[in-house]
Amino acid sequence: MTTVIEVEGVSKKFKIHHERHQSLKERLLHPRSGTTEVFDALQSINFTVGEGETLGIVGHNGSGKSTLLKCICGVLKPTTGEIRLRGNLAALLELGAGFQTELSGRDNVYLYGAMLGLSRKAVDGIFDDVVAFSEIGQFIDTQVKFYSSGMYVRLAFAVAVNVDPDILVVDEVLSVGDERFQAKCVDRIMRFQQEGRTILLVTHNADQVRALCDRAIVLDRGEMIADGPTRDSLRIFREHLLADAVEHDPSHLLGTVHIESVSTPSGSFEVKSGAGLHLDVSVVSQTAYSGNFVMELFTHNGLLVSRSDAQGAPVNLLPGHNHVAVDLGQIPLLDGVYNLNVGIVDPRGHNVIAWSERAATIQVTYDGREGGIVELGATIRQQ
Ligand SMILES: Nc1ncnc2c1ncn2[C@@H]1O[C@H](COP(=O)(O)OP(=O)(O)OP(=O)(O)O)[C@@H](O)[C@H]1O
Ligand SMILES: [Mg+2]
Repeated sequence: MTTVIEVEGVSKKFKIHHERHQSLKERLLHPRSGTTEVFDALQSINFTVGEGETLGIVGHNGSGKSTLLKCICGVLKPTTGEIRLRGNLAALLELGAGFQTELSGRDNVYLYGAMLGLSRKAVDGIFDDVVAFSEIGQFIDTQVKFYSSGMYVRLAFAVAVNVDPDILVVDEVLSVGDERFQAKCVDRIMRFQQEGRTILLVTHNADQVRALCDRAIVLDRGEMIADGPTRDSLRIFREHLLADAVEHDPSHLLGTVHIESVSTPSGSFEVKSGAGLHLDVSVVSQTAYSGNFVMELFTHNGLLVSRSDAQGAPVNLLPGHNHVAVDLGQIPLLDGVYNLNVGIVDPRGHNVIAWSERAATIQVTYDGREGGIVELGATIRQQ
């Protein structure tokens, strides 16, 4: 078997600077204060991947999976060691890494194509397939910063699989978006396998690793503790999981936390502009889990109105039914139908544990005279 990826003695150190002086003024007065700690995110990693192999990479949060993939893709430079690749590579990195958010979806497709060495004409040739696969439709000309997480991943995946890469790298993005789209992605990955391409897959979903990977490596605090057939590696990983605190790792939680419903006390999602709305989000969890709650609100035609802080608001889920109360104080929106996506993410905001697209549809009525999406309520006078 031809070797297409060679990772030899790769280590990655991060410097973390701890400020002694917290206020901006103190920091300006003492610019070199504080201490610098060196952190080993990866420690002498060695492995090779053969042509046509699908390699799973599993490990706890913070074990170095994304750092390893970023080194392989050339986004990060290893501190020591070497990485050799044969053929071209397309990568789907963590949410947020990849697209230029100020540019439209269309421009990003061309930019990404160019980065992979495709001519403009070559991108023209795949463009329709990318848009069709992504189901982005007319939003292809909207700036990516207005995309929902689901739309973002759909477009990123569509580009990565259509640029005809020899090596496909997928980091933890398949858990976003609805189940139908996930299934479509998994189908496409399987087609890639049949075509003899090489795939690196990071996912917290052990079932996906089992279904797709021939072989898996396990990372633990930057060290590779296993490399072998998927079943053996997953067993080693599970044994490690048991030894470690549950709350540090959501890998076993995927599928165990579920957003059941979003309801209102009156049962109605109709609200007058300027009035408040109380939402009760019912979350069913099979285990205790401390994560964060996030939400996104869209116009009926898919334009992002608001997204909560990506890190979300902390929630402590207990086994069984949990309720998260969302108080929308004074809704400044004008007439229209708005869709709400809600989700639970891990405390660092890197991984989606549970997600519900269009969990609720809110109908806002407005009898004022402004047009658009929000009421500015400006006072205008001549001086
Ligand atoms: N740019 C950076 N600067 C400093 N530390 C970093 C940086 N990037 C990652 N780290 C740290 O390196 C470690 C490995 O991070 P990495 O994102 O690779 O983990 P991961 O296995 O992908 O985790 P997750 O499952 O949460 O995605 C973490 O402790 C992280 O905080
Ligand atoms: Mg990661």
